[in-house]
Amino acid sequence: MRIVGVIGAGQMGAGIAQVSAQAGFRVLLSDVSIDRAQAGLSGIAKQLNRAVAKEKIAGADRDAALALIEPVEGAGAMGACDLVIEAATEREAVKRAIFGEVGKVLRPDAILATNTSSIPITRLAQASPDPARFVGVHFFNPVPVMGLIELIRGLATSDATVAAVEGYAQTLGKRVVRANDAPGFIVNRVLMPMLNEACFALGEGVATIPDIDAACQLGLNHPMGPLTLADFIGLDTCLEITRVLFEGTGDPKFRPAPLLIKYVEAGWMGKKAGRGFYDYAGETPVPTR
Ligand code: 3HC
Repeated sequence: MRIVGVIGAGQMGAGIAQVSAQAGFRVLLSDVSIDRAQAGLSGIAKQLNRAVAKEKIAGADRDAALALIEPVEGAGAMGACDLVIEAATEREAVKRAIFGEVGKVLRPDAILATNTSSIPITRLAQASPDPARFVGVHFFNPVPVMGLIELIRGLATSDATVAAVEGYAQTLGKRVVRANDAPGFIVNRVLMPMLNEACFALGEGVATIPDIDAACQLGLNHPMGPLTLADFIGLDTCLEITRVLFEGTGDPKFRPAPLLIKYVEAGWMGKKAGRGFYDYAGETPVPTR
């Protein structure tokens, strides 16, 4: 595997492009426009410059990684790739449209992967050119920092596809775990109930936002409290995944907390919206309740 295509140059796509280039792969990075793809590359350059300033990597390594990333326009530019990773917005219709476009140019031996956090792989595979060469590859945010990749096989994914993508993921220096195509896979199946429960606790007046966060951060030795993490992930994303768990299992233990639904309905989606459980207008986040 030499050339990796990444579709979507947002936070996840840019992170995947960055770690792939740092591992020596040539990367084609696309988005809906070449400007967006170029903006993704500028963000990667900023991250790498910061790493050079902190003396985490050498200037030459930054230059080598940046030289390997080529912004391209649209998913149809991925004809040269051995592996294409879709990291577009988490909407099934958008992903299906992308797979249709990539399908027109994908080589018959190339693999198509999706970075979906919760949409069933087997269902998405139906929109791909070949379900045997389709697989889920779930990265975590921030991609350069997080040490895990979940590899999810759909019902029709071939052993050869799983082995090839596992090889790629290990080359990035990440620990790979394999999961079957069940709602939420492993991490979100375990994580989302915790974040959702923190929303229930807040809504029921068990404690304040900073106390819920401090309790879990210090009491469980987590890097972030659950409400901070929910803001970081995006409350809309948390709600969406929780709904997938609830609907996919039919188990009431996964029902979304009313307060989480309310925040999303209010447009308070978390850090990216400037407000979630915290207000991000100033230097330091301020709890909103
Ligand atoms: N991109 C690249 N590097 C980043 C970064 C980013 N966005 N944010 C932080 N970093 C780096 C910093 O440069 C720093 O690197 P260094 O140690 O080499 O200097 C290191 O991460 C630590 O950063 P900070 O000192 O600024 O801040 P913290 O110590 O508070 O760490 C954090 C920030 C790494 C985000 C940490 O709080 C953390 O690990 N939080 C939990 C994140 C998490 O759980 N992510 C998974 C979310 S679930 C998911 O993605 C699945 C999806 O499907 C929902």
